[in-house]
Amino acid sequence: MQNAESLKKLAGEKAAESVSSGMVVGLGTGSTVYYTILKLAQLVRTGELEIIGIPTSKATEKLAVSDGIKLGTLDEYQAIDVTIDGADEVAPNLDLIKGMGGALLREKVVASVSKQVIIVADDSKSVTILGTKSPLPVEVLPFALATVKSKLDEMCQEATLRIRNGHTFQSDNGNYIIDCKFESIREPRKLEAELNLIPGVVENGLFLGTATKAILGTKDGIKIMEQVI
Ligand code: A5P
Repeated sequence: MQNAESLKKLAGEKAAESVSSGMVVGLGTGSTVYYTILKLAQLVRTGELEIIGIPTSKATEKLAVSDGIKLGTLDEYQAIDVTIDGADEVAPNLDLIKGMGGALLREKVVASVSKQVIIVADDSKSVTILGTKSPLPVEVLPFALATVKSKLDEMCQEATLRIRNGHTFQSDNGNYIIDCKFESIREPRKLEAELNLIPGVVENGLFLGTATKAILGTKDGIKIMEQVI
């Protein structure tokens, strides 16, 4: 019986096979893409791979630097060949919920300029309908916390300001995150549009039509899901 950690490792390492020398690679955030980054770093060290990584968080930047991956910025590289990132929910059409690690804003920016976006996860992240397992993270400008929270209170079952270690969680961008629990999200595009219209909402964790492929670690091995165009 394989545990969740070994399934994450399976998926994370498999995704490294999609990277080849000369690529600019978006490096996602989280405990699954962690294994991708370690694998890429190993290939860089042995001279099998030469890449430029674009990190989606300070944590990923630190990990990649300490492991010897050369990094660049979006100012230097506006086109990314492939981004590999985790997810909190993966729907059958590859729509996603992301952001439980707090990096949704930079992840969405990096994904938006990526030719391919490969999601790595264990199969517990697979859902039939978005919102049924994970809350939806919404990044909020601190100045607008009260006004955004009251709007989100009306829109979802429970809107909870994220607290970590006794303090209000702040993203790498200095913003707060409100985790919105829905029974299910049956019209994600409509919800996304509504969220984007709330002044003070900086970003939301719905990644719709973004992923080109998902690599899921399952107890029976790797499961690949691909975007149907
Ligand atoms: C980071 O903000 C998130 O979008 C992560 O990609 C997501 O939470 C998945 O992380 P794990 O691989 O740690 O579950």
